[in-house]
Amino acid sequence: MKVSFRQATVERTGHIPALNQLTCDLEFGAKGAIALLGANGAGKSTFLNAILGLCPLKSGEIEIDGTRLQEIRTHELRRRIGMIFQNADDQLFSQTVYEDVAFGPTHLQISDEEVAERVHHAMDVMGITALAKRDIIRLSGGEKRRVSLAGILAMQPDLLLLDEPTAMLDPRGCRELSECLNKFPAAKLIATHDLVFAEKLCPQCVILKDGSVFAEGKTEELLKDEAMLMECGLA
Ligand SMILES: Nc1ncnc2c1ncn2[C@@H]1O[C@H](COP(=O)(O)OP(=O)(O)O)[C@@H](O)[C@H]1O
Ligand SMILES: [Mg+2]
Repeated sequence: MKVSFRQATVERTGHIPALNQLTCDLEFGAKGAIALLGANGAGKSTFLNAILGLCPLKSGEIEIDGTRLQEIRTHELRRRIGMIFQNADDQLFSQTVYEDVAFGPTHLQISDEEVAERVHHAMDVMGITALAKRDIIRLSGGEKRRVSLAGILAMQPDLLLLDEPTAMLDPRGCRELSECLNKFPAAKLIATHDLVFAEKLCPQCVILKDGSVFAEGKTEELLKDEAMLMECGLA
């Protein structure tokens, strides 16, 4: 899958653009992972939301596999691209774990048997089968993350967007999350300022500063450049 931004500008507060004539090409292999790095306010969340069509562009274009975003039907876009929001509580709204994982696939045109099959498979891959009947509000942060991931996995997307996935996790939660992401059969774009996590999961990265691309390339190499990291607020 390929996601291209062409001089994309998004204004949120009115004066300083959240994305400022941003141009970049993200080429994902089938299960490739790219890190989207940047300090607070650099534009990472806006970038992810723009891919989902949730932030209207003031000017410029976004293309998915060469097709302009506005030409892709919302239903199709939602099926192909899933997003893990920064706060799990913005994502999960059913009462039980099973109901939440089943919510997306129930709205696809597939049989009840296939819905059940997908839900069981997704819960198995994310290691939450034992939680199926539990109330969402009684889960830990790490468990909620895995429930969100299972709900998206059950949609069988091509691309998974993650917004600061480690923000509320302890070290064990981070380790379990990396294991789950390694098993997730889709391309991933991970917005984070957690450089250790980014380097572990993503061979390539794009660094944003003030709504534009500041640097891009091999994560391992870029993260060695202390002066550059200082300049964009990552060190
Ligand atoms: N909901 C919003 N309303 C108005 N301005 C926003 C909103 N969200 C973000 N912004 C502004 O857009 C810019 C980019 O923010 P954001 O995309 O959230 O960056 P990041 O995710 O890298 O911290 C910032 O200047 C921020 O203040
Ligand atoms: Mg953000």
